[in-house]
Amino acid sequence: MEYKLSPSILSADFCNLEEGIRQTEENGAVYLHFDVMDGVFVPSISFGMPVLASIKPAVKQVIDTHLMITEPIRYVEAFAEAGADILTVHYEACKDIRATLDKIKACGMKTGLAISPETPVEVLKEFLGEVDMFLVMTVHPGFGGQKLISETLDKVRTLRTMLNERGLETDIQVDGGIYAFNVKEALDAGANVIVAGSAVFKGNAGENTRELMEILKNY
Ligand code: DX5
Ligand code: ZN
Repeated sequence: MEYKLSPSILSADFCNLEEGIRQTEENGAVYLHFDVMDGVFVPSISFGMPVLASIKPAVKQVIDTHLMITEPIRYVEAFAEAGADILTVHYEACKDIRATLDKIKACGMKTGLAISPETPVEVLKEFLGEVDMFLVMTVHPGFGGQKLISETLDKVRTLRTMLNERGLETDIQVDGGIYAFNVKEALDAGANVIVAGSAVFKGNAGENTRELMEILKNY
């Protein structure tokens, strides 16, 4: 399994965004997590396509886009044009999940399917083998800086078992409340793509990235 760090710029200093991102890239983060919130699916509003379009040409990282928006199918093309490489949509936010995933593929992006903490992992069963990455939210989507809900890691364990039983090596991403002190719990549960916002961007992004990457490399 390949272990990857996906720093979430939600917690970055937007006046010094380029420098912050650069520090994560130089220290081994091959993904960059881009959280889009619409104030409807989640209470808060973050940023969207124009910001992504500015970041895209400045980095080599895989743009790992997490859409926390209602009916994301409406924006699939726009995010492809802006530079998203992976487009993750929420199970709870789509009327027609298959149509949404098909559109993401047709636009040349990798597919991601996310579940919030209250959604049982069994709903993902019918999509095994059909998506490139599952995202098991480890906090309620909407804000950075929350505490990891440990029960969500049971869902990661179940999902990894379901994938293993089918011989699938699909990525499992975890997002929310992950720090150097608890990342190993997520890895032990079966996650291999680690999102970290506060843990990377609060303080020195370069040093924080290095510390997390060290754990992932030695795992
Ligand atoms: C929360 C977002 C996360 C957020 C994580 O809804 O999806 O990506 O940035 O932030 P931390 O790592 O601070 O919990
Ligand atoms: Zn996210």
